Amino acid sequence: MARTSLIAAALGVLVALPAAIYQLEIHTSVIYLKGIGHTFEPLSAFPYKCRRIEHPRLQACEDMWLSEATRQLFLACSDSSQRQHWMPTMGRFNVSARSVQDAIVAVDIDEHTSSGSTFPVRVLATPNYAGIPGDEGRMYPLSLSGVDDADGSVRLWVVNSSPSADHTTGKLLDQAKVGGNLTVEVFRTGPKSESLDHIYTFSHSGLVTPNRVAPVGDETNDFWFTNDHGKYKTGLKNALSGPLGWGDVSHCTESTCRTIIPGHKFPNGIAHNRGPRGDGLVYVPSSLLGRVYVYKPVTMTTSSDTATTAAKGDLELVATLEAGFSLDNITPDREGDLYIAAFPRTADLLAAYEDPYHSFPATAAVRIRHRRKTTHGRAAAGQQEEQRQEFEVTKIIEDGKGGEAEVLPGSTSVLHDAATGRLFFSSVISPFIGVCEPIA
Ligand SMILES: *[C@@H]1O[C@H](CO)[C@@H](O)[C@H](O)[C@H]1NC(C)=O
Ligand SMILES: *[C@@H]1O[C@H](CO)[C@@H](O)[C@H](O)[C@H]1NC(C)=O
Repeated sequence: MARTSLIAAALGVLVALPAAIYQLEIHTSVIYLKGIGHTFEPLSAFPYKCRRIEHPRLQACEDMWLSEATRQLFLACSDSSQRQHWMPTMGRFNVSARSVQDAIVAVDIDEHTSSGSTFPVRVLATPNYAGIPGDEGRMYPLSLSGVDDADGSVRLWVVNSSPSADHTTGKLLDQAKVGGNLTVEVFRTGPKSESLDHIYTFSHSGLVTPNRVAPVGDETNDFWFTNDHGKYKTGLKNALSGPLGWGDVSHCTESTCRTIIPGHKFPNGIAHNRGPRGDGLVYVPSSLLGRVYVYKPVTMTTSSDTATTAAKGDLELVATLEAGFSLDNITPDREGDLYIAAFPRTADLLAAYEDPYHSFPATAAVRIRHRRKTTHGRAAAGQQEEQRQEFEVTKIIEDGKGGEAEVLPGSTSVLHDAATGRLFFSSVISPFIGVCEPIA
């Protein structure tokens, strides 16, 4: 009898294993990681002329945001040679080798330097941001998002990956044990910015492995964000959070942060499509599954007699889109289209951390265009006019001849400047950024 149950148990495992693998969607992650079945396309197949912009302070720029009102491109940059040592959200904890040139950099994209080859670049000072005692007020920006305010000023939300420290003495803690100290720093600046005025620090037990912030965009500093590794900063649970879906979408106000949607698999660069022509929806990419979840903010209701009383920050799923690539940051343009950095073969980007100066991971961009069509149902009595929503998902460019990029960085952010049609590409690891001009 014991024997039969053993056999039954063994059979159960045999049956359950493929099912579990399927359920965990590990096959999908592996396909995107290795680029299995992907047809790499060369840059020459797309209607763009691309070049690199090389500048010592435009290295390892994980993310960027364009202020349409002031025409400044803000980038969160670091030092390519040091990324492999300090990136606590990616399990890199060698804090003594961290970059000392991390900064927010502003680029005037409508102007040229006298040599004409690049744009004016300003490394922004953060005079009233304190940081860790003894660390010269350094910030360690991982990503940034912004809002052009009605008064002409600009607000920036920066995900800051500081080392954990005793803030009375400045003594650094054991990072591999406690993880980095991830906060969101809010700054205000303006046109032709030289510095950022620090206005608020979000530090909360729910802000654990923040990847990127999507500001609500009203007068408050409230935002949604993704915890890419969920609630686990270090160790096995951190490592397993992707396949097991422990990442989440959360929401913060100045009084609290809370999880809105759990169960995400490496949710990456979230965006709120909130511009004048945007659809107001919140877009969340999954890096592991190459998928974008589209959420509608639920309007807060205060009346107690409604069955479903929404709380501040609640989201409701309206669509799930397949991109066919592993995805990173999503950035809306001023027309309300969304541009996403995509990895034709994610493993190459991850490998580039070890040798950023000789690695050229293939890169691509995907665009999501949300067409809102009003259709009329068949003329049945009482049938309501319904709004059919359609999302068009298109790869618009790839630089991947023979599996390697010829020009562009291994991009983690792609930004479309609708005024000129240009595309900007920045990378968490590559020592340069890229720009592509459309050709007619
Ligand atoms: C940390 O980085 C330093 C400087 O690059 C290096 O010498 C050291 O071996 C690294 N330590 C670990 C544990 O990797
Ligand atoms: C994390 O950062 C916050 C805000 O700067 C600070 O108050 C707190 O002491 C820091 N905690 C650790 C462990 O570094």
